[in-house]
Amino acid sequence: MSIKKTITIGANTTYPLTVKRFGYGTMRLTGEQVWGEPENRDEALAILKATSDNGIQFIDTADFYGADVTNRLIAEALYPYNKDVLICTKVGVARGADKSWQVYDKPDNLRASIEKNLQTLKTEQIQLVHFRVMPGSATPFETSLQTMFEMQREGKILHIGLSNVSKEELEIALQMGNIATVENVFGYEQRNSFTTGGMELRGMHEVLDTCVKEHIVMIPFFSLQTSLHNKENKITVIAQKYGVTNAQVNLAWALHFNDLILPIPGTSKLTHFHENCKAFDLELSKEDLQFLG
Ligand SMILES: NC(=O)c1ccc[n+]([C@@H]2O[C@H](COP(=O)([O-])OP(=O)(O)OC[C@H]3O[C@@H](n4cnc5c(N)ncnc54)[C@H](OP(=O)(O)O)[C@@H]3O)[C@@H](O)[C@H]2O)c1
Repeated sequence: MSIKKTITIGANTTYPLTVKRFGYGTMRLTGEQVWGEPENRDEALAILKATSDNGIQFIDTADFYGADVTNRLIAEALYPYNKDVLICTKVGVARGADKSWQVYDKPDNLRASIEKNLQTLKTEQIQLVHFRVMPGSATPFETSLQTMFEMQREGKILHIGLSNVSKEELEIALQMGNIATVENVFGYEQRNSFTTGGMELRGMHEVLDTCVKEHIVMIPFFSLQTSLHNKENKITVIAQKYGVTNAQVNLAWALHFNDLILPIPGTSKLTHFHENCKAFDLELSKEDLQFLG
């Protein structure tokens, strides 16, 4: 079945942005535990430079990757940016000196984080910013989101998205303003919420109906990480049928699952990057999709 090749972020707003429906997530371009410089800096820059050759326009980052490492690499590799590149960052989290992931969602925190992103990405406006929800935070969700909308009115942010969001929070957010995207965990083998290392990760399935109803673009994270460990699943059968890799079938499955899904597979390897990009052209049949379920 042929798939929709492009996707529009903010389709129902004054500033719709249309990009190829396949992006790249930069989190793996850091050292171990998403901390410090990548082991192979040249390869990291080569991957970022290869995005445009592969038609990739959507690049996902955060100032807490590194920290600041992926933003600086993006600017080094791609600045001045092509007009059609869409850089998406996220706020709501900061890193402690001990590499911990800390809640950073008070209004002043969010403002400081946006300023840092603008500076490191060398831009005056960020096209899309996800407010990354940290479940259990002391700051009310509405207070943080209000600050996001304020910064949007000030022109620092073009579109607002939510990450790691629950259905209830998404419904509240939609009463407050436009939400262009949701970035939650989602992969062939992991569609629902789960908790890891004490952190609750919200699944895309929980918010799927709302996203479809409101035409919110769905950006999955951990789609490969949560699925590639299983070498004996139905994905393998389809991979063998087409002579492709499990990663490629995983990504093709997500692309066929719903037109509003924009995959952003992460990798630190140029070979994996090229392999993943080829998944965009892998057409699965109706029978394949029924088999995969
Ligand atoms: N909003 C959030 O809370 C949140 C959380 C996590 C991530 N994200 C974003 O989502 C993006 C995607 O998530 P992710 O990078 O964690 O996970 P992912 O896309 O699920 O997978 C990355 C893992 O899969 C491996 N991999 C990638 N391509 C492969 C291939 N073709 N064959 C075999 N292994 C392959 C990578 O290893 P190699 O490096 O060896 O290829 C890495 O271990 C991130 O880069 C980040 O931008 C957002």
